[in-house]
Amino acid sequence: MLTQRAKSTACLLSTLTSPLLIAALLLAASRWAGADERPGPDASLKNAAQSLFAVGVGIDFRIGQRPDDVPLLTTQFSIVTPENCMKPAAVHAHEDHYNFEQADQFVEFATRNELEIVGHCLVWAKDDRTPKWFYQDGDTKANGDLLLERMKDHIDTIVSRYRGKISTWDVVNEALGDGSDELRPSGWLEACGPEFIAKAFEYAHAADPKATLIYNDYNNELAGKRDKMIRLIKSLKEQGAPVHAIGLQGHYELDKLPLKELETTLIAMRELGMKVVISEIDIDVVTRGRWWADGGKHREELASFDPFRDGCPSEILQRQAEQYAQLFTLLAKYSDVIQRVSFWNLHDGQSWLNYFPWRRVNHPLLFDRERQPKPAFEAVIGALEKARANQ
Ligand code: GLA
Repeated sequence: MLTQRAKSTACLLSTLTSPLLIAALLLAASRWAGADERPGPDASLKNAAQSLFAVGVGIDFRIGQRPDDVPLLTTQFSIVTPENCMKPAAVHAHEDHYNFEQADQFVEFATRNELEIVGHCLVWAKDDRTPKWFYQDGDTKANGDLLLERMKDHIDTIVSRYRGKISTWDVVNEALGDGSDELRPSGWLEACGPEFIAKAFEYAHAADPKATLIYNDYNNELAGKRDKMIRLIKSLKEQGAPVHAIGLQGHYELDKLPLKELETTLIAMRELGMKVVISEIDIDVVTRGRWWADGGKHREELASFDPFRDGCPSEILQRQAEQYAQLFTLLAKYSDVIQRVSFWNLHDGQSWLNYFPWRRVNHPLLFDRERQPKPAFEAVIGALEKARANQ
């Protein structure tokens, strides 16, 4: 569709030039003016990003029971991550019992809808996310050999079950340390030493040699953690561990997008020959402040902070749109490094940020609670189309 500006330019010129030239000018003018246009009703993230990277989303296993969500999901995204149902606590809460009910439902739904799957996650190197039994041997602590044996069984069982159906695995999640810790203190680290990370990749690769294997973390684009990540990648490579990509979760906050840091990280990954996925994108509009600071003493006052309970002001939605556009412009610039960009949840009503770190009405995604595109959707489509036009 042509804008008024493009039409009048062409109209003026039509009095002076030939029909063929006018047609060419019309096309050029409409492209030039394209950035001002709103995406049509068929605009799709996965199509707009074609030839740049795949676009995915994290969703829960009940998706198949919500028919209203399915068209939005399948028109916009090509790859899905199970939000919770494949995590160790969901699949393997007890040593002698695997529960695949929800994970099977998820895989069946995705396969039927021709969606690629990212399995998430085999080892979550956080003690509160690892079922206690992994670390115990009767009344004593399990030693490193026993833990690795359990890890192998866990990884082997899950990866083999979905071999050929799940193309990509988040093998280890959140093993890097915050603050001064190089690696996060955990039962895994304590019993096995840092090698548990390489072992997880080795076991996953043995169970499915064709799968893409990812190391996933948060804040690993930021200066402090980036260096730890680079050291980890180098050490994994030295150990011969098959790590194929790094996941940057990308849980961002409005007005605090670390674009410069992200760019530095993308350049560093390019230099290391390491692919990147942005695995869990959202932009929180209810800023979190230092909810975790000072031993959590601000949590009580924050617990009642719910400024956008009755809707998000358009000024904030606009700012969010601009920041999403800046982010996707940057990501598109590094499309040679980035394989996939996944959002964390389908629409605002389903975001984990309505519950974490406290209960509030949040608006972090591209679609609102009625599954309608927000200004951020238009901004992302615009940024992707512009990037593709300049390719
Ligand atoms: C981390 C995990 C995800 C999910 C989010 C919150 O980013 O990798 O699996 O738990 O936290 O939903």
